[in-house]
Amino acid sequence: MGKNAIRKFIDVILLGLFFYEVGIMASAGRIHEILGCVFFVLLIIHNVLNKDYYMNLGRGKYSRKRIAGIVVIGVFGISVFVLGISGVAMSKHLFPNIRFLSDWNVRALHLGAAIAVLAALLFHVLMHMGRYMQGKKVYYLTGLALVMMISGIFGLPYIERWYHPVSINLQETIEGEKVDLSGNVLIVYFSRVGNTDFPEQVDAVSGASLMKENGTLYGNSQVLALMIQNAVGGDIASIQTEKNYPASYNETTKIAGDELANQSFPVLKHKLPDLAQYDTIVLVYPLWWGTLPRPVASFIKAYDFEGKTIVPIVTHGGGGAGDSVEVLRGLAKGKVTGPLNVYSSDIPLFRDDVTNYLKNFVKGYK
Ligand SMILES: Cc1cc2nc3c(=O)[nH]c(=O)nc-3n(C[C@H](O)[C@H](O)[C@H](O)COP(=O)(O)O)c2cc1C
Repeated sequence: MGKNAIRKFIDVILLGLFFYEVGIMASAGRIHEILGCVFFVLLIIHNVLNKDYYMNLGRGKYSRKRIAGIVVIGVFGISVFVLGISGVAMSKHLFPNIRFLSDWNVRALHLGAAIAVLAALLFHVLMHMGRYMQGKKVYYLTGLALVMMISGIFGLPYIERWYHPVSINLQETIEGEKVDLSGNVLIVYFSRVGNTDFPEQVDAVSGASLMKENGTLYGNSQVLALMIQNAVGGDIASIQTEKNYPASYNETTKIAGDELANQSFPVLKHKLPDLAQYDTIVLVYPLWWGTLPRPVASFIKAYDFEGKTIVPIVTHGGGGAGDSVEVLRGLAKGKVTGPLNVYSSDIPLFRDDVTNYLKNFVKGYK
């Protein structure tokens, strides 16, 4: 392979990798971080191979096209730098100890930088398109980049999200800094685990959002609720329906869809603690069909929340809190705060974010 071919090969891989990273960002995990590092290494190689461009910057005439190209490379350079730095700062696997700025700010910065890089990259590639148009090999490589992109967008997040129970050490996962919430706190959660008949081999039936410790399953909302209890203390209780949901994820979504269509209030198994003694109820639940799961509606209907504050914490697969908080407000008499939305794949490493959220919550409270 000549220098030119290597150059083109790296360019196409770089582009494919970047799209792939964008595709899997929703489930940003170890693979996203590793490929992010590969992207930066290849980018350095790309710059070394194209060093003549920089050498010649001071020479020749500055046509409009050339100036536009330089500006785009400048924007690209700055945004890719911010992308890398923020990526390191929010990395949970490769650089877990490097932290600056709050997690929320760093996330916004990373996303903003990614959008800027994407725009600059497309512009940059379009300007150099002529180089890519010759020879069949380039088409093969472009095809490869496309396949990577499509499998990134549709494949990996799907596999990660829906079929992969994550192994955790429960105590390590929930242990962290303590936060003082004034008043008596009750944490109530609703989770698929605890309301479903799962067989032994849960992996085979789609373990959407499940976590495992030595064969014991935990639900997302459950783990998050345990993290919150670890941070603020207080009592914890779970909402359980009299009738269990089936192990199949798809079947469960069908039943949940019917419950929603009928606006039903599924019968709950046991009475939860008397709410009179609590000031704040932290309510952790998954987003179901973009809204509040009906068993949670049953819980709200069964109690009087007047004079109390409900803090909704919503776990989801990409839909945020949907309209669940509005539904809660319609059902409960007490005050319902704004929600904290937690993407399901983030939960195993979310303990520090729980601390930050609760600290800010306490500040807003005073
Ligand atoms: C019946 C059902 C419906 C769901 N609907 C949505 C949805 O509309 N939007 C979304 O982002 N996630 C949806 N999800 C994914 C869950 O919100 C997500 O996996 C959640 O973290 C599961 O929490 P759990 O393990 O505590 O049950 C749904 C899951 C189920 C089981």
